[in-house]
This record gives sequence, C-alpha cells and structure tokens, in this order.
Amino acid sequence: MSKKLKLAVIAGDGTGPEVTREALKVLRAAGNRADFAPDIVDYDLGGDRYLKTGEILPASVLTELRAFDAIFLGAIGHPEVPPGILEKGLLLTLRFELDQYINLRPVQLYPGVETPLAGKGPADINFVVVRENTEDLYCGMGGFLKKGTPDEVATQSAIYTRKGCERCIRWAFEFTRKRNNPKGKMLTLVAKTNVLTFGHDLWYRTFQDVAREYPDVKADYNHVDACCMWMVKNPEYYDVIVTTNMFGDIITDLGAMIQGGMGVAAGGNINPDPGGTSMYEPMGGSAPKYTGQGVINPIAAISAMAMLLEHSGFPESGRQVLEAVQQVTGKKMKSQAAGRMGYSTSQVGDLVSEALQA
Ligand code: IPM
Ligand code: MN
Repeated sequence: MSKKLKLAVIAGDGTGPEVTREALKVLRAAGNRADFAPDIVDYDLGGDRYLKTGEILPASVLTELRAFDAIFLGAIGHPEVPPGILEKGLLLTLRFELDQYINLRPVQLYPGVETPLAGKGPADINFVVVRENTEDLYCGMGGFLKKGTPDEVATQSAIYTRKGCERCIRWAFEFTRKRNNPKGKMLTLVAKTNVLTFGHDLWYRTFQDVAREYPDVKADYNHVDACCMWMVKNPEYYDVIVTTNMFGDIITDLGAMIQGGMGVAAGGNINPDPGGTSMYEPMGGSAPKYTGQGVINPIAAISAMAMLLEHSGFPESGRQVLEAVQQVTGKKMKSQAAGRMGYSTSQVGDLVSEALQA
C-alpha cells in the first residue's frame, strides 16, 4: 500500500448512513484497484445525537476533524429537530470553521439519466457551479427589534469581502483553465449587479480585475434571473459559473433537477489552501420518508466520493469512479428516482464496484 487517505465519515441522519455505506464500498473498490488503503474514522453526529445528548458539534470533535485529509458527510436533517439547528450547528459551522470557501457543484447529465429538459442530452448539460461558501446571507448577521409585536423589524445582512470574493473568483478561473473545455474556456459570473449595487459591485469589479490574469478564459457575466432562464433554455451555453453563496444555493437545486434529480447531484465544500480539510456530500438530504427501506439512490453519494478522491490526491481513482457511475446509469439503472431504480441501494453500490474492477 503506497498512499494513505485519512478520512472522517459523518454518516448523519435519515438515509445518510445508507448512501454512505455504498460510497465507502466504492471507495474500497477504488482503493483495491489503485493500491491505496483509506483510513476511516466514523463520527456519530446529527439529529439523533442532538436529541439524546444536546450536543451538535463538540469543540473536541471539530479539533479532531481538522487533522483529516477529507470528510465525507452523508446527510443532515431530522424530522424532530426544528429547521436551522442542525444546518447551522453542524453543516454551516463546519463550512465556516474549516474555511471551506469553495462549494463545487458539477451539473452533469450522466448517460441514461432522464432530464426534464426536452431535447437535451449529456452533451448539452455539463457545466460546473463554483459557489462561494463562507459569506453573503449565510454569515448569520442580523436580529429582531420589537419581536412578536405589530411593529416588528427583522434584519439579515449579507457580508461580502474583497478577500472572500477574490479567492473564490481566482480559484474558479484556475479551475476553468484546468477544465479546458474543448468548446472554449468560459467563466460566467452570476450575480445581480443591477440591484445589489454595493455587494455585487464588489464582486463584479473583483471579477474584472482577476480576469486580466487569465486572458485564455472568456470572462462572462449573467444576472441570476437570466441565468435561471438560460439553465433551462440553453444549458449548453455554460462551462463554469462562479457565484455568491445564496444564489449558488438556489441555482444548484435547479441544476440538480436538470441533471436528473437530487439522487444524482453531489457537492464538495473545499478548502484548497495547504493543510485545508474539505468535505464532500450528496445534495439529496436525509429523506426521512425513504429511511431504512434500501430504496434511496446512492449515485449522488458515490459521485461525491469521486470528487473527494479527485481533490484529495487520487485524481485517477476519482475519474475511474465517475466512469463506473456512468456505466451503471447508462447500462443498468432504470431510473434515478428512489424506489424506481430497478435495484436496491446496496445493489447499485455493488454494480458501481463491479464496474470499477473492469
Ligand atoms: C445546501 C443546503 C444547505 C445550504 C442548507 C441545508 C443549510 O441547502 O448545501 O445547498 O443552504 O447551503
Ligand atoms: Mn441548497
């Protein structure tokens, strides 16, 4: 065994453990093929632990997590925990504390996967969203005045910093250059400069400044509302999109739908700085109504594992896993919808693992 991969696993809530099991199965198969051994530590975090102990993310656990090469997160969200508690206390805290300032979300239609967009296929739906992941409306700044009265006031501030947008924009230019799209390298800034004339003006000016360092990449701009329109009408227009945290959240759910649904879409929360710890997750959430039935689609989780490998020093294995996934969606699975795949959750994991051996 040559290289090591120190991996923390937070299987989490609902269907999280089921899809995580398959992603780890595929990781082991990839390790066998490429002769590396993942060194895995499980962390019991999520809704059940919170309900039992009141703990969400103990400080000692956060310290331990910093020492890993990467984190795999299954799902967070529990029907008995009010909205916001686990999201803020675990997911957003990890993104912020580990300074995972890139949220990388590929929008790729795999072979054999149905898209709701008429007449579009895998050649048309293949772009990547680079979402800033540590600022904007997600910073949690705001408050109430006269709460619960007819005169109530609520504020929620969006924070944008030069440093925060510049590091994200620069990473996105580098990524676009490396992706080297044969159709032409293009990075589209998606924002709302016609209304958010302060915060998004900063983003726009920074984008123009950084663009000068990348003359080989076309620097393009779309307002976010127009972007939603183009994603549905002409998704083939896009190569790479860079955008703010909240807009990135919204357009990537639209992206997930055009690539075949929440069972397929994966994301990476990346800290690309030296020694940074990144976290990879399927986008589907904890899906309580499907929990424990073995019907949930693990393809998003397996794709998240492919991203993890790609960005954690095993790019060849990452590519092999993604290829294996595409063989299984293209040649085996009936549908990407939970319960209609033609296979159980664990059978899909087996199929991808088998395709990897080939
Ligand atoms: C996502 C999710 C999170 C977000 C929620 C769960 C806080 O929607 O990863 O896109 O808004 O970032
Ligand atoms: Mn989201």
